[in-house]
Amino acid sequence: MATRITLTGIKPTGSPHLGNLVGAILPALRLADQPDMTSVFFIADYHALTTIHDAEEMQRLTHEVAAAWLAFGLDPDKVIFYRQSDVPEIFELTWVLSCFTPKGKMNRAHAYKAAMDQNVANGNDADAGIHMGLYCYPVLMSADILMFGSHYVPVGRDQEQHVEIARDIAERFNNAFGPTLTLPEARIDDNIAAIAGIDGRKMSKSYDNAIPLFADPKRIRKLVMKYKTDSSAPEDPKDPDTSVLFHIYREFADSDEVEAMRARYAHGIGWGEVKQMLADRLNTFLAEPRRTYTDLMQHPQRLDDLLAQGAARARALARPILDDVRRKVGMHV
Ligand code: TRP
Repeated sequence: MATRITLTGIKPTGSPHLGNLVGAILPALRLADQPDMTSVFFIADYHALTTIHDAEEMQRLTHEVAAAWLAFGLDPDKVIFYRQSDVPEIFELTWVLSCFTPKGKMNRAHAYKAAMDQNVANGNDADAGIHMGLYCYPVLMSADILMFGSHYVPVGRDQEQHVEIARDIAERFNNAFGPTLTLPEARIDDNIAAIAGIDGRKMSKSYDNAIPLFADPKRIRKLVMKYKTDSSAPEDPKDPDTSVLFHIYREFADSDEVEAMRARYAHGIGWGEVKQMLADRLNTFLAEPRRTYTDLMQHPQRLDDLLAQGAARARALARPILDDVRRKVGMHV
């Protein structure tokens, strides 16, 4: 079996929005369609625990994120799909890996460093408000990756350093005990466009500029109408390539529609009309996924069962790798 493993984690820290769909969900599902590839996608709930300290919110966001991926076509028979917290092997491996992780390297990990720099800039103690969860985040993420012998890890640029850390830890372990852990490679797709939010900045929960995927169609239209545009008149020719609205439209329309829209821009089209057309397109695209999503959210037990079945498959993959690690470091197997 020459199948390769692609693994990625999804941190349930916010309700899924259009930027997540275009930047993460759709590209990952396209990857999962490749032949000879085993895809492992999981909800990184213990990573979310570094910021979310409310049980009800953790449950809700975990369900929302899982339902969103399923609504856009994740096939749980094909993809191994689980909650990180349902796979205890990962946490056992985390400790072993910690014993091979240079502390100095963690001092330089960017999330921790940014929090520390922020403290210093504010004149506070460097470690004020920083817990070990943030500090050890990269080790847990390394265990996520190394636990399954992952070859490829599709992530955004901001996660590249973490995959490098995982690779480094695996190399250190292998140097000490011989070939054991598979060295993972980050897969960063620069063609994946970041979608702009309604204020023109990158769409992000933290900027409060996002279009939630499963809001009702009226609300989606209302949010689209809020996009900032310039003051050009409807009859003025417009450049589609610098237009945020065109850019989003392109992600959801077929090539004929995109060409037709391009022509409308060249001849002059009012921003209001562009927005109406974009809202129509989005609402058409989202209608079916919304039905699936709503149905799943009304049956959280179905979601939990499905994730538990995924976890059973994940644990079966993890077991021999963990046993190998345990044996090599001298634990009883
Ligand atoms: N840290 C990643 C993020 O913030 C989520 C994540 C957790 C992850 N474990 C992972 C991504 C393993 C890839 C592989 O987006």
